[in-house]
Amino acid sequence: MKKIGQGRTAEIFQWDENRILKLFNHGTKMDDVKREFEINRDLAKQKMPVPDVFDLIEYNNRLGIIYEQINGQTLTKLISSKPWKILNEARRFAKIHRKFQSKISFEIPRFKVKLMRNIKTSNILDINLKNSLFKYIETLPDDEILCHCDFHPDNIMISDGKMLVIDWMTGAKGHPISDVARTSVILKFAVIHEEKSYIEKKIINLLRNKFYLEYIKHYMKLSNIKIQDIEQWELPIAAARLSEDISNLEKDILLDYVERRVENIS
Ligand SMILES: Nc1ncnc2c1ncn2[C@@H]1O[C@H](COP(=O)(O)OP(=O)(O)OP(=O)(O)O)[C@@H](O)[C@H]1O
Ligand SMILES: [Mg+2]
Repeated sequence: MKKIGQGRTAEIFQWDENRILKLFNHGTKMDDVKREFEINRDLAKQKMPVPDVFDLIEYNNRLGIIYEQINGQTLTKLISSKPWKILNEARRFAKIHRKFQSKISFEIPRFKVKLMRNIKTSNILDINLKNSLFKYIETLPDDEILCHCDFHPDNIMISDGKMLVIDWMTGAKGHPISDVARTSVILKFAVIHEEKSYIEKKIINLLRNKFYLEYIKHYMKLSNIKIQDIEQWELPIAAARLSEDISNLEKDILLDYVERRVENIS
């Protein structure tokens, strides 16, 4: 089989003429793969903009999902090759994020519980800080809305000008604005780790910042919310992100942010 793509959790192969196999790394849990499969299947049934999904299989002792092949590129690639489209794409990104935010009818993990679990397992945060965060999370609103929890331009594909959302493994239920804050934390604190020159990094950061600001502005306009509604979630989300597989530099930046903000809640 021809390999056509690579993510952090899986490799992508050409399965047949119109379908791909997303083959998960060894050690990926069945529950996680099943969740990705079931959320995507449910969304496809509702005619939401996701690829069609066909089967959950075992292949060479690894779990895999067979998807419809999307003929196109990721939003990240599109905006880096056509930066003049950034503002328009950021507004479309906000609009499609809202489009997916409706009630979920089957059992998936709760976003707040995931946040608390990640904060609990962190070996960077001290116990007092963790306890302040647990109390704080309880004061935040909750809901039963589908959250992607990894909604960023690398998980959006563009085909025939249409946006499709992929990679639903991290899906959870919770408050819609918490998912916007999660996107905000990813975009605001992301560190470019590829080998790039100083000037290239500066340009990428500038473009990403433009995209991020327009996305937030447009989402707020569409949903009639205030920036504070988003910002209140950023503290626990940044703290929970410290348990993810991110660079040490990004962890230092996040920790600094968490330590500064936590003083205002305790
Ligand atoms: N249905 C599809 N059709 C065509 N290409 C796809 C499809 N699904 C995924 N890809 C390609 O494979 C890449 C990785 O896919 P995906 O984001 O699902 O994997 P992942 O390992 O979960 O990623 P991450 O690094 O975000 O954890 C995508 O960026 C895209 O280029
Ligand atoms: Mg992905």
